[in-house]
Amino acid sequence: MGMGKIVAARTAARLVLSRNPEIVGVGTGSTVGFFIEELSASPKAMGMKYVASSLDTARKLASRGLVVLDPSVVESVDIYIDGADEVDPAGRMVKGRGAAHLAEKMLAYRSKTNIFIVDESKLVSRLGEKKPVPISVLPEAIEFVLRSIGRLGYRAEVRSGSCKDGPCIDDNGFIVVDVWTGPMKNPENVELQLKSIPGVVETGLFIGLTDLVIVGRSDGRIEEFSASRTRGLHL
Ligand code: A5P
Repeated sequence: MGMGKIVAARTAARLVLSRNPEIVGVGTGSTVGFFIEELSASPKAMGMKYVASSLDTARKLASRGLVVLDPSVVESVDIYIDGADEVDPAGRMVKGRGAAHLAEKMLAYRSKTNIFIVDESKLVSRLGEKKPVPISVLPEAIEFVLRSIGRLGYRAEVRSGSCKDGPCIDDNGFIVVDVWTGPMKNPENVELQLKSIPGVVETGLFIGLTDLVIVGRSDGRIEEFSASRTRGLHL
């Protein structure tokens, strides 16, 4: 179980170790968890510094004795490794199942190289095929944001917190709303529609932020494909 995720994570860990970067950005989720395990098994991992996209990831890194920097003082990241929820053939993605999409996107934007690690179940021909697009919403805007999304023709659901009554609040204090778009013809347009609503802080649509996707298959095989990076600090 999880073989695809493990082999993708192992491949990414080897790649990071071979490049010996100064600062490594680390995403969130179970595939990233495998990446941290694989990477931290090498003594070389202690010589790098890390910036995490969530409290969960920061704790995983710190528990292995790795140096975790405060994201607010990190201007630039050398390499960023993260998972994804859906990936299309152009390397566009839906992210945010773990409610970390805002912090993840901020790290990916300022990273020189972005590598995403997924198993084959994440590959789709069109984004929105299987998963909703998570968005982060300012609490005071929640009601009119939900109504505005309904007017766009999408179904929006406030994500429920699993450990408390009421909404899921992300690490930055925003409400997470899942937007069911169905298969998207034009993800760029959907991103623009959602981000144009005041009170929507960020969406889980990752467009133009991918350099490389590493896909792990359940039989242990690896496939990789590059995408054209069009967004980021270093372009
Ligand atoms: C976190 O908010 C997401 O963007 C994750 O990157 C994504 O859900 C991948 O998770 P798994 O590696 O657990 O599938």
